[in-house]
Amino acid sequence: MKKIAIMTAGGDCAGLNSAIKSVVMTANIQGIEVLGIMDGYIGFVEGKYTNLDEEIVRSIETKGGTMLGSSNKECPFHYYNKKTRTFEDRVDEAIEKIREQGVEGMIIIGGDGTLDSARVIHEHGMPAVGIPKTIDNDMSASEPTIGFQTAIDAAVDAIRKLITTAYSHRRVMVVELMGRTSGYLTLYAGFASGADIILLPEQDYSLKVVCDRVDEIMKSGKRYVIIAVSEAAKEKGGEETIAMLVKDSFEQKRYGGVSQKLAAQIEQLTGYETRATILGHIQRGGEPTTSDIILGARLGNAACKLLINGEAGNIVGNRGGKIMKMPFPKEREPRLLNMDEDDLCKTAKDMGVCFGQE
Ligand code: F6P
Repeated sequence: MKKIAIMTAGGDCAGLNSAIKSVVMTANIQGIEVLGIMDGYIGFVEGKYTNLDEEIVRSIETKGGTMLGSSNKECPFHYYNKKTRTFEDRVDEAIEKIREQGVEGMIIIGGDGTLDSARVIHEHGMPAVGIPKTIDNDMSASEPTIGFQTAIDAAVDAIRKLITTAYSHRRVMVVELMGRTSGYLTLYAGFASGADIILLPEQDYSLKVVCDRVDEIMKSGKRYVIIAVSEAAKEKGGEETIAMLVKDSFEQKRYGGVSQKLAAQIEQLTGYETRATILGHIQRGGEPTTSDIILGARLGNAACKLLINGEAGNIVGNRGGKIMKMPFPKEREPRLLNMDEDDLCKTAKDMGVCFGQE
């Protein structure tokens, strides 16, 4: 192998640059060139590339986001054509374009959607290795995924700021966290910041239980209540709160707004002053934690070695602290929390955290 390509796609997160640097360094030391694909699957289909070398990647690992850019709507086998307003399969054409650059294999870093496309690219004849990343931590390939730890820290930092103002004003604060249909980020950040109530998408909550707990806490003499709610959490018998539908995206639902709905209900039903905060993309931004720098580097290195050794068709991931390889899954299945089995859920319950359950 003389030349490989690397790409980041899906929602960005911290730790991606460390994985990019690791791939470039590992490959270059073996005399293999690395081509960067810009802006995720947009660059793959449209042929937008940049050459990467040691000098370019020297200190990128400390920076957040991805130096290659990303996009989270595009899918190469379901690619939106703005002129005809139809979806097209552009995989073969994109592979041909990148082969013309001398590329013999690809490392693709992304969430479950991105890695599903990576599997298709591999099946179409371009050897590919996947690296899992997402702040949602909802991939069975790796626990944690790149970006999860940094997102927890960012959210904890923000929630601690809300606590000081909640205390001053004797308020209930409802904080909304990302994660789509998976509650990992809300559970970990909520617990670590001392949230009193944590509402996750995996089990619908009872509004009555939430309001009763708020009342109990406020009457106990504590001056405030913190509620961490996942963006896709919903009341029993209710609906998910969708901010918008992105028509030209493979994954059309964009969540947002459950905290505002819930805050209004709590204020009306309990009489306590309640405010909502949507943490939003703050959770994805900023510099990576050291653990994400290290995880990115380990996974980048392992992926590069697999590709060079002719073991494409695999994903690399952290399983119980060890870096393992596993084949691309055939299905896009987000990994959800098992709230009855999860150790942190059990700890939180034992310590009196309310999950909105009867
Ligand atoms: O999957 C990562 C994620 O940050 C989700 O937690 C969130 O729902 C979504 O992406 C937000 O996407 P966008 O950047 O398109 O708003």
